[in-house]
Amino acid sequence: MSTLFMAIEWKENRIFLLDQTALPIAENYISYDSINDLIIAIQKLVVRGAPALGVTGAYGVVLAMDEAARKGLSAEQLEKNIDNLRDARPTAVNLALAVEKARKQVINGRDSVLALAQELANKDKQSSTDMRNIGAHWLIQTLGERPLTLLTHCNTGSLATTGTGTALGVIKEMHRRGFVKEIYADETRPLLQGSRLTAWELMKSEIPYRIEADGAAAMAILSGRIDAVLIGADRIAKNGDSANKIGSLGVALACHAAGIPFLVVAPESTVDRSIATGSEIHIEIRGDEELTHFKGLQVAPLGAKTFNPAFDVTPAKYISVVITELKAYEIAKGETL
Ligand code: MRU
Repeated sequence: MSTLFMAIEWKENRIFLLDQTALPIAENYISYDSINDLIIAIQKLVVRGAPALGVTGAYGVVLAMDEAARKGLSAEQLEKNIDNLRDARPTAVNLALAVEKARKQVINGRDSVLALAQELANKDKQSSTDMRNIGAHWLIQTLGERPLTLLTHCNTGSLATTGTGTALGVIKEMHRRGFVKEIYADETRPLLQGSRLTAWELMKSEIPYRIEADGAAAMAILSGRIDAVLIGADRIAKNGDSANKIGSLGVALACHAAGIPFLVVAPESTVDRSIATGSEIHIEIRGDEELTHFKGLQVAPLGAKTFNPAFDVTPAKYISVVITELKAYEIAKGETL
């Protein structure tokens, strides 16, 4: 179950990130030793996906400490840099949680923070393995031992974690067991994590797939082409409400109408038990340019106003099950987290 590449690596006292903005055209690593550059990379989605953001955040605190030592920054300036790192993207709870965990270790010295970051990376990798097994078991128990056509939205694979992924990890396991007929990958507007990243991972894993426009998902589901949908999450409330990439809610509604399973697969580090429902989740709103331009090319009238939330929240009532590395939470049967 090895991954074919690493999205994040700590080497030579720098963070190396596989540049996800360049995929699938180019496979380039960029290395970082400045906290401001790392924050910009997170905001531009060079690295992305909730678990990967958590691991990057923990390594980022080491980087902030190294930079502070190199430049002779004050303790206050270091704290400010750590605050900025924590707040770089607000919806994925993994980032804030990992940065705060790492901040607590600062007092114990740089090597303790680095050890914590490495521990979080290893734990995340192990979570992928556990989730893929629990998720595959749930699908096989629910739908039987047969090849399935599965739909997924956004990217939840090795690019989004330090292991084989969350929802995409389960898909990889189903394929390994011979139970995948085909994967429908939503292209995932506006930044195309589905067609650029998920399709690239599926191609590398030799899993049969097709890309569809996000707007085709409801038709694919209601026309009976899809057996089940698997997505990841950026934050899950105690009642099961789950924030994920914009467009996930529409897919969930279509599954509800069609009566097919809708699975949310995410590590426990994505579960925010401090919030009762999804209404408390801070949704990141991104810039106009992502909708008015495409790779620098204008595709809308100049000055057009936009509505560009990066995520939506799927209410628990539309979710069949939440799979974590610990268990399958049977949300449709009233179980909470
Ligand atoms: O904006 P992104 O690409 O960071 O959004 C990512 C998602 O919505 C993923 O589905 C989620 O983080 C889970 S990744 C295992």
